[in-house]
Amino acid sequence: MERLDKILSNLGYGSRKEIKSIVKKGIVEVNGEKVKDNGLQVDPEKDIIKVDGEEVFYRKYIYLIMNKPDGVISATFDKYDSTVVDLLDPEDAVFDPFPVGRLDKDTVGLLLLTNDGELNHRLISPKWHVDKVYYARIDKKVTEDDIKAFKKGVVLDDGYKCMPGILEIIGDYEEGSEVHVTIQEGKFHQVKRMFESVKKKVVYLRRVKFGPLDIDENLEEGQYRELTDEEVALLKDI
Ligand code: URA
Repeated sequence: MERLDKILSNLGYGSRKEIKSIVKKGIVEVNGEKVKDNGLQVDPEKDIIKVDGEEVFYRKYIYLIMNKPDGVISATFDKYDSTVVDLLDPEDAVFDPFPVGRLDKDTVGLLLLTNDGELNHRLISPKWHVDKVYYARIDKKVTEDDIKAFKKGVVLDDGYKCMPGILEIIGDYEEGSEVHVTIQEGKFHQVKRMFESVKKKVVYLRRVKFGPLDIDENLEEGQYRELTDEEVALLKDI
């Protein structure tokens, strides 16, 4: 059970004060009865709430998939730069979703956002071995030795030994290579630092897969959509 004003406020119907005045107007109903008390305890899963005759669909969690653009920070707030949350429509932002893991400011591609803290935690914990696949362009030619080094687990500049990663060469890019990298961890600048450990530089980085989900090629950079129920179920199944 939860307070009616809290539920409506979470759904974007206004502040608690505003909800109070909506209730006062007599346009809020619970199970067919006009509500007088904005603090009424209701069961949002079972009780039928209507505002101005329209049924309110309650849900606690929101799950979004975004094609992150270059130049925005994957955080909920930043002093200087715009964040991925700034790209959300107000009706989605009211759920206070936060990014699942981080992509660097200049990394683009698949980013999930949710307010489901438990799922978020599981998806970013290396313990659960969730594969993240990146498409990258590298400044020099990637070699078989690099592939072997990634497979063994490279050592980063701070001495951290990475879990094994899969490095695949998919083509040439100017003087360098185009690759796919699959890793299960998400250390700060991980892919870039993995390449630094083999004396190479990532010049472009795009995440194309997160666990069971592929990037949605229909989303332009900066666009997002809600995950379908099936996609959410796939994530929860991990
Ligand atoms: N690895 C990086 O170096 N940067 C990212 O944004 C993601 C993975």
